[in-house]
Amino acid sequence: MGKKVAHRTNAEIGKIETKKFPDGEIYIRILSDIKGKECAVIQSTKSNDDLVKLILLLDLLRDLKASKVYTVVPYLGYARQDKRFEEGEALSAKTIVKILDEFSDSLITVNCHFLKRGGECEFHGIKMGNLDAFPLLAGYFRDKLEEPMVIAPDKGSLEYAQNAAEIIGCDFDFLEKERISGEEVRIEEKDLHIKDKDILILDDMISTGATIIEAAKFLYTRGVKSVNVGCVHGVFSKGIEKVRSSVDNLICTDTIERGISKVTVSGLIADKLMSMI
Ligand code: R5P
Repeated sequence: MGKKVAHRTNAEIGKIETKKFPDGEIYIRILSDIKGKECAVIQSTKSNDDLVKLILLLDLLRDLKASKVYTVVPYLGYARQDKRFEEGEALSAKTIVKILDEFSDSLITVNCHFLKRGGECEFHGIKMGNLDAFPLLAGYFRDKLEEPMVIAPDKGSLEYAQNAAEIIGCDFDFLEKERISGEEVRIEEKDLHIKDKDILILDDMISTGATIIEAAKFLYTRGVKSVNVGCVHGVFSKGIEKVRSSVDNLICTDTIERGISKVTVSGLIADKLMSMI
């Protein structure tokens, strides 16, 4: 992603050295001369190691006198713990964002789970740019479906689904989803006019795949022609195969690089950075 963005922005690619100590701790060294330069760090935080690496790098950039630090986190982990669902729980999303903001002049992400719209947003008083990759996913499917209809897997993604339907020029609707546990969801009964349609489900992320698998089962039993799925963040905590085999088509963006990353968000990131430099 860094290379793609650097190519589009005509930027130099900084060199870093990174390794792990025998106890698993992370070592970071910047090899390029970055003093006085505007630096963009692009790092998705799918794992705790990614997060630690990012924090170390951001603080180091400040120490080495970068003139600006733009932090781009295409996939921001911990974003789903954005509320206290049970008393006493950590508000993890807020904590992570506070730390990243502390070391950044600007914080940019892509379809962050707790920001329900694209553009300039605020979360617990912290300003964040939220790039929207749903139009890119819609664009990918635009000429591929004969009888398209966009379905949001839950009400939370409805606005994104509506925009995608406008791009494709088709109808849209949403499913009533109830999450039973981290790995189980139920799709509630609902009357939908979807027979013989090529359904496009768009979601911000696929993690266990439970949402998509249950949604596809529901849709197939209602006589749809095909189920096509595009997600921004292909987390796939249980692997891709089970999800892929339960639908006709499955793609994601490259916020997390996968074999099915058919859409790149590098253009969105490059444009955003260019607008700030
Ligand atoms: C939920 O609000 C999200 O938009 C996704 O639908 C959800 O995180 C997907 O998780 P899973 O693949 O584990 O069902």
